[in-house]
Amino acid sequence: MTPLLSDFVTQHLPLIEEHLSQALPSPVSGGERLIDAMRYSLLNGGKRIRPLLVLAAAKACGIDVLGSKVYSAGVAVEYIHAYSLIHDDLPAMDDDDLRRGQPTCHIAFDEATAILAGDALQCAAFEVLSESVDTLALVAPLAKAAGARGMVVGQAIDLAAVDQALDLQQLSHMHKHKTGALIEVSVQMGAIVSGANRVQLKALQRYAAAIGLAFQIQDDILDVTADTHTLGKQQGADAANNKPTYVSLLGLDEAKRKAQHLLSEAKTALAPFPNGEVLAAIADYIVERGN
Ligand code: IPE
Ligand code: IPE
Ligand code: MG
Ligand code: MG
Ligand code: MG
Repeated sequence: MTPLLSDFVTQHLPLIEEHLSQALPSPVSGGERLIDAMRYSLLNGGKRIRPLLVLAAAKACGIDVLGSKVYSAGVAVEYIHAYSLIHDDLPAMDDDDLRRGQPTCHIAFDEATAILAGDALQCAAFEVLSESVDTLALVAPLAKAAGARGMVVGQAIDLAAVDQALDLQQLSHMHKHKTGALIEVSVQMGAIVSGANRVQLKALQRYAAAIGLAFQIQDDILDVTADTHTLGKQQGADAANNKPTYVSLLGLDEAKRKAQHLLSEAKTALAPFPNGEVLAAIADYIVERGN
């Protein structure tokens, strides 16, 4: 992580964590275990890349993000992400026991509670957004990115692809939906909240599409190259589940080259943004990260 990004993270991460915690619903009688499961899976040290992208995109568009309602958009997308991870780990999906170095939600609680915690986090995301400054402009993009034309269809394609040999186009289609969609909408929401014009939105869309795909390629690479302790999730899970990935299709070197190519594409797209240096640093981080 560059010093510039490290400063940005130091400045914003505590506030992101505070907003993530405070915006959670308080339990009604009988709902304590459900809220415990939501808190357990949300407040356990994720990298918070998506809220950071919301804030960095707003900064690139000239908005001073400290203390602004931009945080609501960041919280909403992180809630959707947290729910997607809880469901992704379920036995019916990737069947993983370890997430962020801790037992996954269905192991720490039980399957039904994990399903419901994911459901409730998704609702909480839209509740938070409804209290935001630009509710109407943000709800549709987030709903689209999360649902049957975004992350959820990406997950459906992923599950249908087990034991299948996808070609490169099918693989990038899957990655762009299951992971790219939430990353793209993070950048988009930061831009919308900042009143970005159409040219800026289009340039940021190019940036976000490139890093969104690069993010999942790096996730596929780390599944092969990193160790379980560093990853905080089971190493080799993709191969064990016989999932098609960039590494299984192209090999490690070519997957790394593809990620580098996407990184330079992302940086080119940032040319019109004098304040785009944090977004550029996040792009670097995405392909260099070790977990
Ligand atoms: C993991 O996402 C799942 C993918 C979309 C590849 P992150 O790598 O952002 O996970 P956390 O939130 O930091 O744990
Ligand atoms: C997850 O992809 C994508 C979503 C959660 C939407 P993976 O299944 O590769 O993510 P990890 O490796 O379990 O974090
Ligand atoms: Mg998965
Ligand atoms: Mg998984
Ligand atoms: Mg993975």
